[in-house]
Amino acid sequence: MRTRLVAGNWKMHGSRAENGPRLKAIAQAAPAIAGVECAVCVPFPYLAQAAEALAGSGVALGAQNVSEHEPGAWTGEVCASMLADFGCRYAIVGHSERRQHFGESDRQVAAKFGAALAHGLVPILCVGETLAEREAGRTGEVVGRQLEAVLERAGRQAFAQAVIAYEPVWAIGTGKTATPAMVQEVHALLREQVLPQTRILYGGSVKAANAAALFALPDVDGGLIGGASLVAEEFLAIARAAQRKD
Ligand code: 13P
Repeated sequence: MRTRLVAGNWKMHGSRAENGPRLKAIAQAAPAIAGVECAVCVPFPYLAQAAEALAGSGVALGAQNVSEHEPGAWTGEVCASMLADFGCRYAIVGHSERRQHFGESDRQVAAKFGAALAHGLVPILCVGETLAEREAGRTGEVVGRQLEAVLERAGRQAFAQAVIAYEPVWAIGTGKTATPAMVQEVHALLREQVLPQTRILYGGSVKAANAAALFALPDVDGGLIGGASLVAEEFLAIARAAQRKD
């Protein structure tokens, strides 16, 4: 049985003052949500604050990006061993905002994935198509290519630990959620390429109101939550919706 995972991606939001109460609320409530692992992926400067606030709660800590390089002369970068040093369990790699705005290639994302794994982090590999790609009937080809780049480098066995997040670009931050049928179709396709135990999350405008329908799908193992993860009660409600009903 794949343990459900609900991970918050705070993106570039937060301040020490805002984060404190949010982390405290999550740390207090999450342990009662049986059978669901919660994680928060915070901006780099807040890793220490989050690590301290979440200590002992069972809520995992994650980063939103990781360098593909080992320590060295890479100004502005943060490497996997540093994230491990701060107690991170997860590192998001290949988020569409990084592919789109920072030019990350499939190859670079695969290298980041490898660096994360090499330092004991669990990569959350994001894949997803743009609206134009979906409308051109290219969804399967695009997510297949994004995943294949990682499979070629790291091998299928890497997905014994690693997590995938299917995030259609057109559904991110837009309020447009993919329909359950669309989500299941892509998740089933991804599942064929990896392992039966690989957790595959859905991301893109997930809210408490639509989470249960998405989490009821056979190949959806949780969610990667953006905007809604910034409100502790909403994030916790999404995590409760991920509890298995059987
Ligand atoms: P939203 O939930 O804000 O649409 O963001 C999804 C996302 O990009 C999570 O990584």
